[in-house]
Amino acid sequence: MSNYDSVHRRSIEHPEDFWAEAAAAIDWHTAWNRVLDDSNAPFYRWFAGGRLNTCHNALDRHVDGGRADQAALIYDSPLTDSLRTLTYRELRDETALFAGVLAANGIARGDRVIIYMPMIPEAIIAVLACARIGAVHSVVFGGFAANELAMRIDDAKPKAIVSASCGIEPNRIISYKPLLDQAIELASHTADFCVILQRPEERAKLISGRDIDWHEAVAGASPHECVIVDATDPLYILYTSGTTGEPKGIVRDNGGHAVALHWTMKNIYGVDPGEVYWAASDIGWIVGHSYIIYAPLLHGNTTVLFEGKPVGTPDAGAFWRVVSEHNVACMFTAPTAFRAIKQQDPDGTLIGDYDLSRFRTLFLAGERCDPDTLHWAETKLGVPVIDHWWQTETGWAIASNCLGIEKLPVKAGSTARAAPGWDVTVLDADGAKMPPGQVGAIACKLPLPPGTLSGFWQADDRYKKGYLDRFPGYYETGDAGYIDDDGYIYVMSRTDDIINVAGHRLSTGAIEEVLAAHPDVAECAVMGVADDLKGQLPVGLVVLKAGVNRESDDIVAEIISMVRERIGPVAAFKKAVIIGRLPKTRSGKILRGTMQKIADSEEYRVPATIEDPLVLDEIRDAMRSIGYADAAR
Ligand code: COA
Ligand code: AMP
Repeated sequence: MSNYDSVHRRSIEHPEDFWAEAAAAIDWHTAWNRVLDDSNAPFYRWFAGGRLNTCHNALDRHVDGGRADQAALIYDSPLTDSLRTLTYRELRDETALFAGVLAANGIARGDRVIIYMPMIPEAIIAVLACARIGAVHSVVFGGFAANELAMRIDDAKPKAIVSASCGIEPNRIISYKPLLDQAIELASHTADFCVILQRPEERAKLISGRDIDWHEAVAGASPHECVIVDATDPLYILYTSGTTGEPKGIVRDNGGHAVALHWTMKNIYGVDPGEVYWAASDIGWIVGHSYIIYAPLLHGNTTVLFEGKPVGTPDAGAFWRVVSEHNVACMFTAPTAFRAIKQQDPDGTLIGDYDLSRFRTLFLAGERCDPDTLHWAETKLGVPVIDHWWQTETGWAIASNCLGIEKLPVKAGSTARAAPGWDVTVLDADGAKMPPGQVGAIACKLPLPPGTLSGFWQADDRYKKGYLDRFPGYYETGDAGYIDDDGYIYVMSRTDDIINVAGHRLSTGAIEEVLAAHPDVAECAVMGVADDLKGQLPVGLVVLKAGVNRESDDIVAEIISMVRERIGPVAAFKKAVIIGRLPKTRSGKILRGTMQKIADSEEYRVPATIEDPLVLDEIRDAMRSIGYADAAR
């Protein structure tokens, strides 16, 4: 039996022994009573009765254990032309001071703190400061609009919001403060106070009595010690797209999270403590939470925080500059970043300008990786390129080539085999197991390993209904795909309305809700159509109310700006077309899948239940008018 097989088998047959062993790498204040508490199945709790502090494990433990002067964080920002390194001691001290600011203003264990910040060290300090005092952070991605922030404020009910004066995109400064003020205005819940970090690129006007200046507050603060919490206490809430406009608050615990994330660094990514690890993502996404912040720090690595883009800051060589300048051993990003680089530097000429001799592995995730991109990266970089699959909900990889255990052969198009802890299977609509090679719903047998979601924030019934009820005893991933004869997993598409735009997860249902709110719109459908750069792009089809005879271009421009206003620029919603009617089944179901295939010029079957097949010709013409459905031919 291969090493991978024996490790995987043990993790499934003896999960408690397996994870208890992994837990020995973490500092515990109090040992757990039960490794796995299954008394409330299908909800499971790992390390029940155990007590610890995540920030202690990410920072203080390394300061005390000999890494005080090792770089913990390298902030590299081509957007502001700055570079800053914080050692473990410096990061610990700055975190302790900011924890002091929060505590002095009344934040205590269990209180929620929303963090709406760009990619700057203070964002990581704010996150770790919350963990230090047992407060529950909820980071909101900077590319979301005020309305999305307001929804998260109303759901998490934070006592404090930490933000910055601005974020920086290559073509513009994003003024955060007006967005924050607007969100606070829109929300029904009111936070007690805000802490605002003033960036030199743009200073914000603070509201007296509500806003605290970060630098002033830190100057007068006393450092705060780590507060011991239960292993099962929430560490953070991270909202992700659901099937409606209402986001899902994924809750992560403290104990299982620390154990699992620490374990992944060596076993999946194959890195040793002290090495430099770089996840080129954003702290607002799960990859940023797990692999910019927590996992590398828990494991004693140096993490890189990159405020820039794969292209344009200043060129398609930016990634190679960072890898070479900071001696990155292992990098993690989304395939879309590579597609962007490949578009601008197809021969990989810029790679040759840098010394990448210390660079060992590239990991990709966040969306399906097309084999072309995988092969391009392998050939140009000359290192293994590992596609691995995971979700906000799972917090770490469900399937990966686990380099620290055994490097399995790479099969392009597959995310390799189930990671230890994961019992992955493919089910048909009735819950029966599908034979190898056949596409069905990918599900994971419960209990899920530690570090995965413990539920939804104050909505466990929604979690149960959305993920656990359809296939009793399993977690339904929402992804469809198949497993081949060698156990390799192929993730092909979603079974719901989620689309993946430049590695960013979006709900077409949420975009439809915005379109439907336009006064002239009677009906609409939004679907993700294939895009060479971003993987998918949302496209809207809109039917107007009877009697509306305004210019189509004006209405399209209005709905595009409504999506940007209400969801945010990250939705990348730039194409919509007005049509006479939508294709539907006789029972009234909109045939989104068929329309998507038409847009992508794929073959499709005319559904037997369609009300009027002729409408599909109208859809093809409409799609061609906006550049899809083989418009060029
Ligand atoms: N704050 C404010 N606005 C943001 C933002 C942020 N943090 N991040 C993105 N945006 C804006 C962009 O400026 C852009 O605005 P525009 O419509 O005015 O041009 C819009 O949101 C869409 O952004 P994006 O989809 O990222 O497209 P892009 O054209 O700016 O960049 C890539 C394309 C491929 C370079 C970029 O998407 C990328 O680097 N992707 C990597 C994906 C990734 O890290 N995923 C995380 C999972 S691993
Ligand atoms: P997010 O929660 O934003 O990480 O998005 C999770 C979703 O992205 C998954 O459910 C998949 O649909 C998709 N995804 C992530 N990684 C991969 C991958 N390696 N291959 C295919 N799809 C992926």
